[in-house]
Amino acid sequence: MNKEKTLVVIGAQWGDEGKGKIIDLISQNADVVVRFNGGNNAGHTVIVDGKTYRFRLLPSGVISPKTLNIIATGVIVNLNGLLEEIEEAEKNGLSIRNLYISDRSPLVLPYHILLDKFYEEKRGNKKIGTTARGIGPAYTDHFSRDTIHVGDLLDKEVFREKLEYIYSLKRAILSSDFMLPSFEEIYNSQIEAFEKLMEKRVVVTDTSKLIYDNIKAEKRILFEGAQGTLLDINFGTYPFVTSSFTISGGVCVGAGLPPQCINKIVGVIKAYTSRVGEGPFPSEITDELAEIIREKGQEYGTVTRRPRRVGWLDFVALRYAKRINGFTDLAITKLDVLSGLDRIKFVIAYKYNGKIIEEFPSSLNILEKCEPIIEEISGWKQPLKGIKKYEELPENVIRYIERIEKELETKVTIIGTGPARDEVILLK
Ligand code: GTP
Repeated sequence: MNKEKTLVVIGAQWGDEGKGKIIDLISQNADVVVRFNGGNNAGHTVIVDGKTYRFRLLPSGVISPKTLNIIATGVIVNLNGLLEEIEEAEKNGLSIRNLYISDRSPLVLPYHILLDKFYEEKRGNKKIGTTARGIGPAYTDHFSRDTIHVGDLLDKEVFREKLEYIYSLKRAILSSDFMLPSFEEIYNSQIEAFEKLMEKRVVVTDTSKLIYDNIKAEKRILFEGAQGTLLDINFGTYPFVTSSFTISGGVCVGAGLPPQCINKIVGVIKAYTSRVGEGPFPSEITDELAEIIREKGQEYGTVTRRPRRVGWLDFVALRYAKRINGFTDLAITKLDVLSGLDRIKFVIAYKYNGKIIEEFPSSLNILEKCEPIIEEISGWKQPLKGIKKYEELPENVIRYIERIEKELETKVTIIGTGPARDEVILLK
């Protein structure tokens, strides 16, 4: 992050690519770190000096005391969740300073969480696998213009009036056996959380202007994406997606910036694929090898510990991610997890109805009928831990990386060789 002043980090797959570590690495040179999508359903893991930090709403820049941290408009905010996270970070030895939240960010309120659980339960065997944090219903309210913004809390009367109106709407559509807390309970819990955040010197402001001013001042700005490309509400594998814009374009709508403000877009690719919950997954590994990779890569949900499905790299999906996001660089994580495998496979195209297709289909009905066309190369036996130079990587790792670069016509500039902050090879 030198010449390029603004840089975006995006997950190229279905999330859990290990963006946290890449973001941490880049944020060490950033003046400003911005979250622009999602809510406290995201979860970056950063390991520094043997200490593990898990961030949900907080931008990863909070690790460094100098960095300005911004939760921009595209993020929906659960005030109590944010407060808990700040308190947890403080217990972990961090001092949360320089935190700014958009006055236009939608609030996640207790009824959103109840609705999330309610809908998921009613979906029966068609569950989406939501995190039950109210994210979907809060974004739904936003689009149906029934949202309350963080900035509304700056004036208690404005907040009361808006909440009264929306509460009456919710009361009218939810039956009495729906355990909706009373109006006063919701009102008081939000006011209390907001006041505690103000005591912690969190600033509520027009973050679009704040970011723009920092761009004009030539500050180095990192936009950290949550989840992954295939979870994008518009371009992901709908309905098994999240409710926000996870692609690089999400920066513009989430942070309130024109596209030409973005200089560099880093796509984070895990060296294999994982997927949580349901939905078609053409490169899925279904034999005992899946268990080996899952164990070694610790592919279990951060909150639920639910085992993730695992598969080979899928170049059809990755070429699509490259096109949608316009990656200028790639970061490959978890290559170390594949050490010891005899063969490394990857999907180069799909076969559908007897025809070869190279474009990722929009329709899930087609995707689930696609058969993967697989190629393979020899694996490598050596562990990658401790390797600091590209040239010292086993020959077959290099072949694998070169193949990724060729398929995606993009240079790999960061290589992850383990979970810790320093287990990385930087190129260029
Ligand atoms: P979402 O935003 O929820 O999609 O997650 P994420 O992409 O931020 O993933 P996260 O940072 O939670 O990383 C997943 C796990 O991978 C964490 O436990 C990381 O410590 C670990 N990890 C990251 N990079 C590497 C790597 O190169 N090798 C190994 N073995 N583990 C890694």
